[in-house]
Amino acid sequence: MKAMVMEAPGLENLRLKEVADPEAGPGEVLVRLRAASLNFRDVLALRGGYGSRQKQAGLIPLSDGAGEVVQVGRGVRNFKPGDRVVNSFFPRWLAGPPDERFLQQDLGGIEDGVACELRVFAADGLVAIPAGMSYLEAATLPCAAVTAWNAVRVHGNAGPEQTVLTQGSGGVALFALQFARAAGARVIVISSTASKLERLQAVGAQHGINYSDDAEWGKTARKITAGRGVDLVVETAGAATLKQSIRATRVGGMIAMIGMVSGPTAELNLPLVAMGSLRVHGIAVGSREHLEQVLAACAVNGLKPVIDRAYPLADLAEALRHVESGRQFGKVCVEIG
Ligand SMILES: NC(=O)c1ccc[n+]([C@@H]2O[C@H](COP(=O)([O-])OP(=O)(O)OC[C@H]3O[C@@H](n4cnc5c(N)ncnc54)[C@H](OP(=O)(O)O)[C@@H]3O)[C@@H](O)[C@H]2O)c1
Repeated sequence: MKAMVMEAPGLENLRLKEVADPEAGPGEVLVRLRAASLNFRDVLALRGGYGSRQKQAGLIPLSDGAGEVVQVGRGVRNFKPGDRVVNSFFPRWLAGPPDERFLQQDLGGIEDGVACELRVFAADGLVAIPAGMSYLEAATLPCAAVTAWNAVRVHGNAGPEQTVLTQGSGGVALFALQFARAAGARVIVISSTASKLERLQAVGAQHGINYSDDAEWGKTARKITAGRGVDLVVETAGAATLKQSIRATRVGGMIAMIGMVSGPTAELNLPLVAMGSLRVHGIAVGSREHLEQVLAACAVNGLKPVIDRAYPLADLAEALRHVESGRQFGKVCVEIG
């Protein structure tokens, strides 16, 4: 089979190679991958950014894939050849609260990922794709959509009469916008350009703020909520945004700490957090149960993942550079086979 292999850290060291076909062992499923999606974390991994916590040479990148079952190992009852499946981000985290043991298995980082034609998965780490959803659409879900779901629905509990603030037009932010709107919440988005804001409003956001023009966007968001503040901030930008996110959030509201597109370290104004009774809640993707909930929510609400562009697998380095540029609107994907 063909696989994209990172020979050493650096996008220039990605090579499409012929490697041995894997086989499913007991409890495992062999999947012919048809599509995969990229996440910001893949750019970091391809630059060797996770240090000793990742495979530095010979890594097959990417964590999120969808494809067709070609072989099942002994004891597998829930799948058969021909089934369409998508993988869960943390294959061992099936349901319930996070636990360190589940977070150790990391596709496209600690272990090989899905940028290849064939891959073996534990049967427990796969979920069936509903009819009407394409492989490309399903491949956008394991990391970005599950993270957004965990923030907006599981911990943020967003619903009618609530206001959610999302940041930018990356994968997580767009899913957060779609899930918050489907739950009946009002959504304020911040983005870098007027054209992206227009597109975010077309996806469902009621209010848009251009953070390039409005450095005090936290105050502006507060004004939009008549001074009360937003109920939930889906914090994906990190260093550059946390201060304004705190300003935007209502007393007793929540900041879902997810990402760090603009940098990993931020100053925290402790009195504002304490006196605002803010909940700053870390989110680490989610479980297989969350992925199942996402698939059900997409089917029931007719939600379509926003896909920016799909590249052939051979052009993975170009796709990663596109993610790194921040110019995308929604998910960047690769088609396989
Ligand atoms: N904790 C977790 O479980 C988890 C899971 C998934 C992702 N993440 C993290 O979450 C972050 C987002 O991931 P992603 O895959 O959605 O990223 P992405 O698709 O690469 O998102 C990039 C977008 O971020 C926006 N952005 C950049 N700087 C910004 C700023 N200063 N303020 C507001 N928005 C800004 C830009 O949108 P505009 O041009 O529209 O502003 C850009 O298009 C990453 O740091 C990723 O590592 C964490």
